[in-house]
Amino acid sequence: MKVLLTGAAGQLGHALRQQVPTGVELIATSRSGSGADGDGLIALDLADAEACRAAVNQHRPDWVLNGGAYTAVDKAESEPELAHAVNAGAPRAFAEALRETGGSLLQVSTDFVFNGAQGSPYRPEQPRDPLGVYGASKAAGEDAVEQLLGSNGRGVILRTSWVMGPVGRNFALTMLRLHRERGASGQPLAVVADQVGCPTCTHTLAQACWRVIERSAGLSADSSSALGPILHWSDAGAASWYDVAVAVGELAVDLGLLECAAVVNPITTVDYPTPAQRPSYSLLDCTDTRRALALEPTHWRTALRQLLAASV
Ligand SMILES: NC(=O)c1ccc[n+]([C@@H]2O[C@H](COP(=O)([O-])OP(=O)(O)OC[C@H]3O[C@@H](n4cnc5c(N)ncnc54)[C@H](OP(=O)(O)O)[C@@H]3O)[C@@H](O)[C@H]2O)c1
Repeated sequence: MKVLLTGAAGQLGHALRQQVPTGVELIATSRSGSGADGDGLIALDLADAEACRAAVNQHRPDWVLNGGAYTAVDKAESEPELAHAVNAGAPRAFAEALRETGGSLLQVSTDFVFNGAQGSPYRPEQPRDPLGVYGASKAAGEDAVEQLLGSNGRGVILRTSWVMGPVGRNFALTMLRLHRERGASGQPLAVVADQVGCPTCTHTLAQACWRVIERSAGLSADSSSALGPILHWSDAGAASWYDVAVAVGELAVDLGLLECAAVVNPITTVDYPTPAQRPSYSLLDCTDTRRALALEPTHWRTALRQLLAASV
């Protein structure tokens, strides 16, 4: 089975490349055609719809795993055209081409397609209502996949939240650096405590992505329930950014990565204004996906510990 992966140099892409299942021929792409680890990747600019269609027509993959995205949530507010080209234009182009070649698309998406106002976990079938440009661009990408591939069951949308891995740019690694700097100098950290979601480790997310493809291709042991067109996957539990920041400090000391953690003070969203508005409560209800994929979730703190241990 041939899988064309985008965003191979990103944090999810890195984990996906470490877990390629037996029987999968991977065509890994990144914007520049190179990754931090120097692996030979093929160049594919997701902002170039024609190039996305051409890649599908050239390689004729059974699946496109679209893990690449414009992920700079705040910067997207001032670069809406680019965010939409990458996050909506690329999945649209892949879906158009795959409709002709007969392949399938796994589109990785986000909890930011919801407004966060309901205060209870979001079900996959609930209507999208994004708050910012990033969320709107990802929602438009979902919409294109549904329109073009939904009717024949060859478009799967997998939403996730608060992605963090041992390499790349993410909240956990930023907090680890800040604990190191501030713990030594005695300067406290201030972290938002009134936004609630769930961290998701790239390792467990990559496992879920590959399981979707294996399940759909009949390569894995079957489970009792069918896969829906929209899936939700995060690690287990719930947390605020403040909770995660405190946990990073505690776990890093426990793992011997730090001598002492910085003091973390909780603040509110109002105290930390950002260009993009974020959902205040964006937990994803992952019940159906966990059952359908027959995957046991890992609690976010356990996954975070594994991430930090792997980050050295
Ligand atoms: N990070 C999160 O908290 C989070 C939460 C929910 C959902 N998601 C979704 O999860 C998926 C994986 O995200 P991630 O955390 O792994 O993000 P990431 O580390 O930022 O990786 C995204 C990758 O996409 C690449 N990319 C951006 N623009 C591109 C372009 N024009 N052409 C080709 N490649 C381009 C980036 O390359 P450059 O480094 O060169 O820009 C980067 O390697 C995305 O679909 C994202 O929307 C992420």
